[in-house]
Amino acid sequence: MSNEHPNIPTPHITAKYGDFAETVLMPGDPLRAKFIAETFFEDPVLVNNVRGVNGYTGTYRGKRVSVMASGMGQPSIGIYSYELFRFYGVENIIRVGSCGSFDPDLHARDIILAQGACTNGNYADQYRLPGTFCPIADFGLLRRAAELCDKAGVHYKVGNIFSSDMFYDDANSGMEWAKMGVLGVEMESAALYCNAARTGKKALCICTVSDSFLYPEENTTAEERQNSFTAMMKIALELA
Ligand code: HPA
Repeated sequence: MSNEHPNIPTPHITAKYGDFAETVLMPGDPLRAKFIAETFFEDPVLVNNVRGVNGYTGTYRGKRVSVMASGMGQPSIGIYSYELFRFYGVENIIRVGSCGSFDPDLHARDIILAQGACTNGNYADQYRLPGTFCPIADFGLLRRAAELCDKAGVHYKVGNIFSSDMFYDDANSGMEWAKMGVLGVEMESAALYCNAARTGKKALCICTVSDSFLYPEENTTAEERQNSFTAMMKIALELA
């Protein structure tokens, strides 16, 4: 018998082809993936749990949609998003993450729509391009996300984000990126956007500000993050 999908299961995902919907929401945290599936999906089905990275498929307002965690950092989201795009027929990945912000107009619980992702990582080196690649969001997803944010009345900004390979950064380089108008820092978007570009698929990163470098007194607790992320999740689900 010929195997139509020779790369499935992958080393990191044991789901069958077709188990994932066209659009996958991707938080960093596996428990947040579980929360999204259990809170918002009708009839969620667990389709992956390798390494505790739970993936679920269900429906949201009649639309089939999946959610699976990315883990932390570009190597981790690089693996999961590549396998979903390349081997599982996934068309859209919407990262729903948290970020730090160094923009004076952004406070804890505001939203950043990452139009572009700067990075200190070397993920794009693999493409051997004769210059610097600019990882960017899919414009259609970005435009619709902005419209949904307007409709929901949430405070958001669209612009560059900094995908750092270091959470504990001895050089505290975030503020250097801030002088170029970069809005905030997280650790995944650049690799996700590279994989979308390389596979001809679509991606968007939506981040809720969990901590501000300028207003540290506003930083959210784990419990507050859970609640304030609900607005972002609903926007991502409407987008799916
Ligand atoms: N740095 C990197 N990633 C993050 C941060 C941060 O300060 N906050 C949330 N994700």
